Amino acid sequence: MVIGNLLFCHDAIARCLFLEDRLMDLGPKLKRACDDALHKAKMAWKSGDSETAAANFEAASKTMFKYAEYAQSRSMEYARKRKAIEYRDFARRLREVGIEAPAGKAKLPTPPSSNVDEDARHESVAGETDKSISEAVSALVHTSTITWDDIGGLEETKRDIKYTLGLSLAKPPEGVKITTFRNMLFYGPPGTGKTLLAAATSNSLKVTTEGQALFFNVKVSGVLSKYFGESSKIISEIYGAARDNSPSVVFLDEFESLTSNRDGGEQTGAERRILSTILAELDGLAEKGRSDIFVLTIAATNRPWEIDAAVMSRFEKQILIPLPDEETRQAILEIQLFKKGYQIDFELHELIDDTEGYSGREIERLCKQATSQMIGELNVDLPELIDRGLAATRGYQVKVRPLTLADFERAKTYIKPVTSPAEMQRYLDWSVEAD
Ligand SMILES: Nc1ncnc2c1ncn2[C@@H]1O[C@H](COP(=O)(O)OP(=O)(O)O)[C@@H](O)[C@H]1O
Ligand SMILES: [Mg+2]
Repeated sequence: MVIGNLLFCHDAIARCLFLEDRLMDLGPKLKRACDDALHKAKMAWKSGDSETAAANFEAASKTMFKYAEYAQSRSMEYARKRKAIEYRDFARRLREVGIEAPAGKAKLPTPPSSNVDEDARHESVAGETDKSISEAVSALVHTSTITWDDIGGLEETKRDIKYTLGLSLAKPPEGVKITTFRNMLFYGPPGTGKTLLAAATSNSLKVTTEGQALFFNVKVSGVLSKYFGESSKIISEIYGAARDNSPSVVFLDEFESLTSNRDGGEQTGAERRILSTILAELDGLAEKGRSDIFVLTIAATNRPWEIDAAVMSRFEKQILIPLPDEETRQAILEIQLFKKGYQIDFELHELIDDTEGYSGREIERLCKQATSQMIGELNVDLPELIDRGLAATRGYQVKVRPLTLADFERAKTYIKPVTSPAEMQRYLDWSVEAD
C-alpha cells in the first residue's frame, strides 16, 4: 500500500516535472521560431517579395504574442507585445504599399533580441510615464491643410459629414433637443481616402469656428506599440483635452487594432482597460448633459469585421468608403495629372477605364510612376550636369512631354491594385450584415 502510494507520488511528480520542463522549454523555442520567421521575412523583403515577407512578419507577430505569455514581468510582457504589434503592422504596410515601396520610407523593425526585455526595464521607470503621456498626447494634435477640394469624388460622403458637423454646431430651436452623431466610422479598402476625409473634417472645423478646434490624429497601432500598458491612459487624456477644447475631432486610425482580440487568445488586463475606456468615451459619459461640448470621434479601419461588437454598436454612422467609381477616379486623375500641370495625348476616359480596381492611393502612385519615367527618359543628362557644377545645372530646363497610354501601361507593370474584387465584395457583404 505504502509502496503503491509512493509509486503513485513519484509518477505524479515526474509528470509535473515533465510538464514544467515542457513549459520552460517553450519560451526559447518560441523565441527561436520568431527569429526564424523574422529572418525569412527580411530576406523576402530584400528580394522584393512582399507577399512572402508579409506572411513571415505575420508569423513572427503571432509567435511573439505567444512568447509574451512566457514573460516574467508585466513590463517584459508589454515590450514583447509591442514588438508583436510592430511586426503585424509592418506586414500590413507591406501588403498595402506593395513591393515597389521606396525602401527609405518603410523602415524594417529591428529583430527581437534579448534586448526586447532590456528595453522594458528601461521604460518602466516610475515618473517618466506621466510626462511621456502628456507629451504623447500633445504630439497627436494635428493641423491639416487638406481641404474638401483635395478629395476627388465621394460627394455624398462629404455632404454627410458636413451635414453632421453643421447639425452639431448650429443653434437648435428653443426647447428642441436635436440628437446628433458623435461617432462615425469609415471603413473600406486601404488607400481610398479615409484619412483624407478626417483631415478635411478637422480643417473645416478650424475655418468655420472662431476659437481653436483641435484635431487629434491618433494612429492606434502607433500608440499601442509605443505605450502598450499605458494606452488606456492616453485615450482618456486625449478625450480630456478634446473636451477642454471643444469643438474637436478625435481621429482613431487603424481602429481595429484598438479593440480586436489580436492574438485570438485571452485578453490581457491592459487590453480590457483599453476596451472599457474607449466604450466610455464613445458613450460620452464624461460629458453627459453638457450640450456645449462637442467631440466628434472618427474611426477608420480596413478590417471592420475585427472590431468588437460592443464597440461597433456605438457608431451611429458607419460609412463604407469603397474603391473609387468612375467619377471619383476621374476626379483623382485630374488632381494627380492636370492640377500638377501634366498633359496627356489620349482621352482621359481610357485611363479612367484602365484604372478600375485601383484605390486612390494606387492611382496616385501610378501617375507618379508614369510621370517620373517620362521625365527620367527625357532628362538623362542631369547627373552629368551636376558634375559640371551648380551654374550649369541651374541653367538647365527640365524637359517634359504629354503622357501617353503606353507610359501608363508600363507604370502598371510596377503598380498593381492590392484589393481584389473578392475582397471588395467582403466589405459590401459586411455592410449588409451589419445593417
Ligand atoms: N478620393 C481621393 N481623392 C484624392 N486623392 C485620394 C483619394 N483617395 C485616395 N487618395 C490618395 O491616396 C492617398 C491615401 O489616401 P488615405 O486617405 O490615406 O487612404 P486610407 O483610406 O487608407 O486612409 C491620399 O494621400 C491621396 O493622395
Ligand atoms: Mg489611412
